[in-house]
Amino acid sequence: MIIRGGNLSIKGEVRVPGDKSISHRAIMIGSIAEGKTIIHNFLMGEDCLSTVDCFRKLGVNIFISDEDVIVEGVGLYGLKESKDILYVGNSGTTIRLISGILAGQNFSSTITGDESIQKRPMDRIINPLKMMGANISGLLNKFPPLRIKPTKKLIGVEYRQPIPSAQVKSCILLAGLYADSDTKILQPSMSRDHTERMLKYFGANIVTKDNEVYLKPGNKLIGKEIYIPGDISSAAFLIVGTLILKGSKLLIRDVGLNETRTGILDVLIRMGGRIKILNERNLNNEPVGDILVEYSELKGIDIKGNMIPRLIDEIPIIAVAATQARGTTVIKNAEELKVKESNRIKAIVNELKKMGADIEELDDGMIINGPSKLRPSNLKTYNDHRIAMSLIIAALSADGDSNLQEIESIKISFPNFFDILKSIIQRI
Ligand code: S3P
Repeated sequence: MIIRGGNLSIKGEVRVPGDKSISHRAIMIGSIAEGKTIIHNFLMGEDCLSTVDCFRKLGVNIFISDEDVIVEGVGLYGLKESKDILYVGNSGTTIRLISGILAGQNFSSTITGDESIQKRPMDRIINPLKMMGANISGLLNKFPPLRIKPTKKLIGVEYRQPIPSAQVKSCILLAGLYADSDTKILQPSMSRDHTERMLKYFGANIVTKDNEVYLKPGNKLIGKEIYIPGDISSAAFLIVGTLILKGSKLLIRDVGLNETRTGILDVLIRMGGRIKILNERNLNNEPVGDILVEYSELKGIDIKGNMIPRLIDEIPIIAVAATQARGTTVIKNAEELKVKESNRIKAIVNELKKMGADIEELDDGMIINGPSKLRPSNLKTYNDHRIAMSLIIAALSADGDSNLQEIESIKISFPNFFDILKSIIQRI
């Protein structure tokens, strides 16, 4: 695809599609709850549709119309053995979270996904699930396909997470619903807490204190009506586009503003970004608001430590912003980026370098000196949705035509990305 950059600005008012993390959880928790769950603004991206497909294979009726989804919950023990292998496509969240639920069933399951999924580490869930008594194995005890067989009753664990990961935490909590004793998770720093919030909303006995989560099994989960807020990880591309394209101003309505996800806003504001939050409110136990953003002169900053889990998915687009910021931006402690849909450190450094950015790869992050005038280039997306969208924003700021290969991955998380961009981009 050709991206024509130069002399552009962004203007207008938009909504972004529903949050990916919350959409997955609504299907999963809705499926094991009793009664109907009605989900509004569900993300019809490929990852979340993989979750729908898996739960349908496990015997749950799920009806989709426009942007609403109805899940006929079967209760904790109502899932049925799937005749087929469960296929999660590109979705790490699906395979890691569903494994927690399947570990507690009295039937066997096999789960796998695409080429990228087959290379992603699953020992991070296999190990704690085994501590809970689960019968789970993978290739070399690390990679999909995962095979989960019935076990006697699971037991609760006290698990100290070696890395902050919401997928691992959620997997353990979902398995903990099937355990005969309490589960306690100690996080090195806080990762996204949508599972905790949604489980509580559905009636689970779950308490969080600082970086610890306690779950007492036994409560019934009851189906609910859920409105999914806009995905701040998708909004991030439009926010950075607005900040770096002269003369831009954008209002993004109804975005999820959960504190475990708003690291991107804190960092961009520290970089000098003119960003305001308006109309803050609460929707089914998740904070939501509107984001007003304007073109700004940015400056480089350091990003590390506890901040990283709060913006892990936004680092590629932060790197794009840093190429346009005055001074040095240093990103550290982000080694987790190497085991996402692609090695995101390598991918973004290689491609921004091609565009003329002054960017250096570190083992756990990158150093970027700005500002650089980016030049149009022939770019690779590594079949990674967040790399593709980050590069498109970078290409819009370059004068001339860039060529991007393999952009289909964008459908994973932001299916109407191009329609939204077209509706807000103006040629000056
Ligand atoms: C997610 C958690 C994060 C994030 C991923 C979605 C989730 O991964 O990178 O895109 O929905 O729980 P980790 O928890 O592995 O860091």
